[in-house]
Amino acid sequence: MLYIAPTLTNIKRSRMKFFVDTADLAEIRDLAATGMVDGVTTNPSLVAKAGGNFIESLREICALVPGPVSAEVTALDSAGMLREAEKLRAVASNIAIKVPMTWDGLKACRSLANDGVMVNVTLCFSANQALLAAKAGAAFVSPFVGRLDDISQEGMDLIADIREIYDNYPDLETEILVASVRHPAHVLESARIGADICTIPPNVLRQLIRHPLTDAGIAAFMADWEKSGQKII
Ligand code: E4P
Repeated sequence: MLYIAPTLTNIKRSRMKFFVDTADLAEIRDLAATGMVDGVTTNPSLVAKAGGNFIESLREICALVPGPVSAEVTALDSAGMLREAEKLRAVASNIAIKVPMTWDGLKACRSLANDGVMVNVTLCFSANQALLAAKAGAAFVSPFVGRLDDISQEGMDLIADIREIYDNYPDLETEILVASVRHPAHVLESARIGADICTIPPNVLRQLIRHPLTDAGIAAFMADWEKSGQKII
């Protein structure tokens, strides 16, 4: 009898997660109400854009969204990263510490992962970098597809490469968190490839539901219903 060993490629992933890529509390509150938000990612640029006190905002975001909320360290040395991580971790139990793809970042990642902390290794632009993040025990690796597209490299090819490599080693637990998403096609391709998570800017998340035939269909149904003179309640 032919035995086909179960591998990650033939086991269906349970579901694709959507994170929202913003530090804007009003946006997060609004989108969390749709039930589509499994987590949040922030970075220093998004925090600066949203304004307000970083720690206070993080506390509110963590209360709104029970899933992982990525908060990025700004120190460049591993000791400094670990000190900042301690303060960020104290905000809430669903904080994921975001560290940059540097040797210091990976050192901090290993140390935090050993303590059971979720770490998101960010600014990933190559499959080898993603392999390093996984070896350092990262819970998430963030490959930036949009910024690769910006320099005329196919960002989604990187996601496919990382998926293939991670699937070769079923004991690797790092999740592929597609970042720098710019349009709905990035989300669609991520799902096709089997990325674990897409972190999506609010405007792109809202675009996912749009289709002109849906709008036209609702308008036609409403007009016909009006003509029927009937009411449900
Ligand atoms: C999220 O984790 C990333 O920091 C973010 O997606 C980067 O997006 P950008 O390339 O649009 O700045």
